[in-house]
This record gives sequence, structure tokens and C-alpha cells, in this order.
Amino acid sequence: MRVHLPVRKAILNRRTYEAPAEGRSDKLRLDFNENTTGCSRAVRRALSKLTCKQLAMYPEYQAPTRRIARYFGVRAEELLLTNGGDDALRVFFDTFVESGSSILICEPTFPMYRYYAEIYGARISVLHYGNEMEFPLDGVIAALRKKPRVLFIANPNNPTGTLVQKEEVRKILKAATHTAVVMDEAYAEFSGFSVVRWINEFYAPVPRESRCSGGYGSSAERWCD
Ligand SMILES: Cc1ncc(COP(=O)(O)O)c(C=O)c1O
Repeated sequence: MRVHLPVRKAILNRRTYEAPAEGRSDKLRLDFNENTTGCSRAVRRALSKLTCKQLAMYPEYQAPTRRIARYFGVRAEELLLTNGGDDALRVFFDTFVESGSSILICEPTFPMYRYYAEIYGARISVLHYGNEMEFPLDGVIAALRKKPRVLFIANPNNPTGTLVQKEEVRKILKAATHTAVVMDEAYAEFSGFSVVRWINEFYAPVPRESRCSGGYGSSAERWCD
């Protein structure tokens, strides 16, 4: 007997995004924001010190979490290590987004916000960057009055490379009285500013995502906050 496994409607209805991820190693590779000059030698040294026993064990998180929290200037309880930024987003959706929740995004932006929103059956409201790639600040402030569950901002943004300035972020956070604002700071090392230390200043949570691939040339490793 053939068993029919029904696939969730949200998956069937989703716009597919198949990243061309194979056969890229001898190419110029400017498409995925990887560091094309490779990681620091210190990373190679640290990895080469891993023993077979360590590789066979499930990892222990407490000591590295404390160290990385010190580096970012937050408390260890405010930091979650995940398998890269995409996994951090998935954990966020698991925790905060229900089917039918409304999600606000400004496109073009990192496609994984839409990807997860579609998989989780969220309602997606989209604003657009202007012709000069300016961030739609007024539109965002107006849209926040409708109390979406989550607003995603990549800052700096991928793929426009534009930055929402500190004062604009502050305006958005003040207007987001009923909305979780996710600041995706995957590229904060390039912009020179981060809102991670504002975490206690705002009533709404300010989840912030960072990654090691952009700044540290280690896309193959997976850690994030
Ligand atoms: C804005 C943004 N956030 C998050 C990610 C995901 O990063 P990771 O490689 O850590 O999964 C990317 C990757 O391109 C990105 O551009």
C-alpha cells in the first residue's frame, strides 16, 4: 500500500527559493556575502586543537556563551548560540510567531524573513525601499500603528548595503509598542554601530542577530546571537 503523506499547505504555497549552492569553490563567490579571502589563521589553529573526543561529544555552551556575552557587552542570559543566523531566525519564529501572525518586512532584504514567514503561515506585509534605495521610515512608523507581531530589519541591509541610522532605529523602537523588532546585525562589523546594548532600554524586545561569516570569514562554522 502506498501511503500519502500530506504536506502542510504553507509549504506547498510558499514561493520557492533555491540558492545555487553547489560547484562554487573555484568561482569568484560574491553572491552569498562570504569572506572571499578566508578566515583568520587563528581560527584554523583553534580548530586544529579540537580532539577526536571533543568532536564526538555534544558541545558545552556555558563557557563560550559567557565569553561571547562579555565581548558583546550583554549578560550571558541574553545570548543564545545557534547554528548560524538562519537558525537564530528559525528559533525566533518557533518562539514568537504563530500561524496568522503579521510580519512586517522592507524589501528587497534578506530572503529568509519571508521564507520562514511563509513556512510558519504568517501574514506578510511588505514595504519597499525607494528608487535611491532609501529605507521607508515613514511607512514603517505608519505600519507599526497596525501592531504587527514582528518587524524585521537587516542593518546594514542585504542586498542594498544601506544603513538605518541610530536615530531612525530609535524612532522605530519607540513606535513599536506592540511589535518585536528584530535587528539583524549580521553585518554590524562593517557599519560600525550596533544596538545590542540597547536591549534593556526598550519595553519591546530587541532581538539582535550577529554572525561569524561576514565579519570573521567563517561561514562554515555556525554560531550566532
Ligand atoms: C542579513 C543576513 N542575516 C543573516 C544571514 C544568515 O547568516 P548565517 O550564514 O549565519 O546563517 C545572512 C546571510 O547571508 C544575511 O545576509
